[in-house]
Amino acid sequence: MNLKEKLAIKAKPINKALEEYLKVREPEKLYKASAHIPLAGGKRLRPVMAMITCEMVGGDSVKAIPFAAALEAIHNFTLVHDDVMDDDDLRHGVDACHTIYGLSTAILAGDTLFAYAFEMITDCDIDDRVKADLVKNVAYIVRKIAEGQQMDINFEDEETVDAKEYLEMIRLKTSILFGAAAYGGAKIGGTSEEEARELEMMATNVGLGFQIWDDYLDATATEEILGKPSGSDIRQGKRTLLVIEALNRANANDRERLIEILDSKNTDEEVAEAVEIMDRCGALEECHKQANGYLEGARNTLSNYPESEARQLFEELLEYMVTRGH
Ligand code: IPE
Ligand code: IPE
Ligand code: MG
Ligand code: MG
Ligand code: MG
Repeated sequence: MNLKEKLAIKAKPINKALEEYLKVREPEKLYKASAHIPLAGGKRLRPVMAMITCEMVGGDSVKAIPFAAALEAIHNFTLVHDDVMDDDDLRHGVDACHTIYGLSTAILAGDTLFAYAFEMITDCDIDDRVKADLVKNVAYIVRKIAEGQQMDINFEDEETVDAKEYLEMIRLKTSILFGAAAYGGAKIGGTSEEEARELEMMATNVGLGFQIWDDYLDATATEEILGKPSGSDIRQGKRTLLVIEALNRANANDRERLIEILDSKNTDEEVAEAVEIMDRCGALEECHKQANGYLEGARNTLSNYPESEARQLFEELLEYMVTRGH
């Protein structure tokens, strides 16, 4: 069985839970809009990570299903709002929520998914203290995601963002949700706070590689592979690591041209030109290397756990996070 098939098996109960929770009710437009993106697709990486972590520490992952589904609801809530902010009109291979239902309903659909997440967590059949801890942790994470998303938007108007600032931004907007998945899965699995925090740290770290790789794919992969627009970051003038590395490495002409492209409305040819600049100066290669670099520490952490099917799958999942696509 290949990894995609293994992940699909792990995602099955999560998809079932999401379908149950996201049934259409009145007012129909709101609930249809809420279900649109989460039920259209997605790799389910965060919920699958929660399930696998739970199993790896010896727990029963059936107990983690509502929590795992909650992570996917949170993730999709941020996607629905992110597509408004990034002005993107394709997600999970279908028209974005706001493109079909309009801005007002997309805002409400995001809110609805956000609220559902907490209903799901409270539906978990777990110890009340663990439940309270997870509710608090997820609420905190969502606030941090908002901080990261604000930084992402602020950076669009800044000429120079350094790698340290970029890493802090992606830690907030993306990686800590992976951390929360590993932490929650581990806690539901009955492990100690210390061990859960260690797994959280490991997942957060690989989450950084995941976002660097997502940025790489945004510049280099096709819309068909991504299920979302290609080249969107360049069109929006995002200060990704690709841009930061390119501005550090490129010659003066290329640097000037790249900034010009990032700061204006672009044709497809200009987006391709920006990618060429990133390629020519070695920025693409550097980001590829950096994304992969996050795996090593994670493999060390995992090697402290007894060999098991769950551990093996966890390792494959982490690798997939920084190599997917292409
Ligand atoms: C997309 O995440 C948003 C980022 C944080 C880069 P995923 O790649 O996990 O989204 P899905 O699988 O399409 O839902
Ligand atoms: C997304 O970052 C982060 C969140 C949704 C919180 P991106 O803006 O890069 O995600 P995509 O590429 O649109 O999926
Ligand atoms: Mg964004
Ligand atoms: Mg986006
Ligand atoms: Mg992206």
